[in-house]
Amino acid sequence: MPAPIPLTAPGVEEYILEHTTPDTEELLELAEETIQRSDRPHMMVGPVEARFLQFLLFAHQPKRVLEIGTFTGYSALSMAKVLPGDARITTCELDEEYAAIARKHIAAGPYHDRIDVRTGPALETIGLLDGPYDFILLDADQPHFPDYLDPLVALLSERGILAADNTLWSGSVLDRTDDRPGAEGMRRFNDLVTARTDLESVLLSVRDGLRLIRRKP
Ligand SMILES: C[S@@+](CC[C@H](N)C(=O)[O-])C[C@H]1O[C@@H](n2cnc3c(N)ncnc32)[C@H](O)[C@@H]1O
Repeated sequence: MPAPIPLTAPGVEEYILEHTTPDTEELLELAEETIQRSDRPHMMVGPVEARFLQFLLFAHQPKRVLEIGTFTGYSALSMAKVLPGDARITTCELDEEYAAIARKHIAAGPYHDRIDVRTGPALETIGLLDGPYDFILLDADQPHFPDYLDPLVALLSERGILAADNTLWSGSVLDRTDDRPGAEGMRRFNDLVTARTDLESVLLSVRDGLRLIRRKP
């Protein structure tokens, strides 16, 4: 397996984390349980990206949010914290066990009537949803990201933003000889978005790469 390509100079990620508002108690508890019960806790977006999403949503004030990839609920609960009271989040998860952990933490907090966890393959779930959504976080099924672009753009509201996570795939998007499904899927997704003249986007080096996409007015 090719070695990951460093995305920042040594120590920079740690410095960023030290100078970012830490998780609240509930998010820390959820993260702790995720570490105990999952062998892939690194799938959580983590405090830096969570704070970034919170700033984005605080400014944007979306009423309808869609998330692809609930995992144990860390990002959904992070987003819920900054949304207006009448906003709703629909979040999709394939794995029933992860969804159960997410539902437990959501039920224990003040956002239980605002977050709806749907289980099943997300491409099937989103085919059943009525748009529009003001904010969509795509954070699951990375090898198949290209398949999500059209259906998710079609679900965006006029001022809607699609945020696609892991778009640097640990730097392996740079290595065209890396033919692992995640790396190939992400390169195809990034190239597809870039070629779309109807879309505006920016690829940010936040954590593993966060690409913000919207329809051109
Ligand atoms: C990177 S994690 C999401 C992390 C989450 N956003 C967070 O910050 O805690 C991706 C999740 O997507 C789920 N997943 C993978 N393929 C999926 C699919 N086709 N449909 C729905 N969920 C899927 C995985 O089970 C995993 O829990």
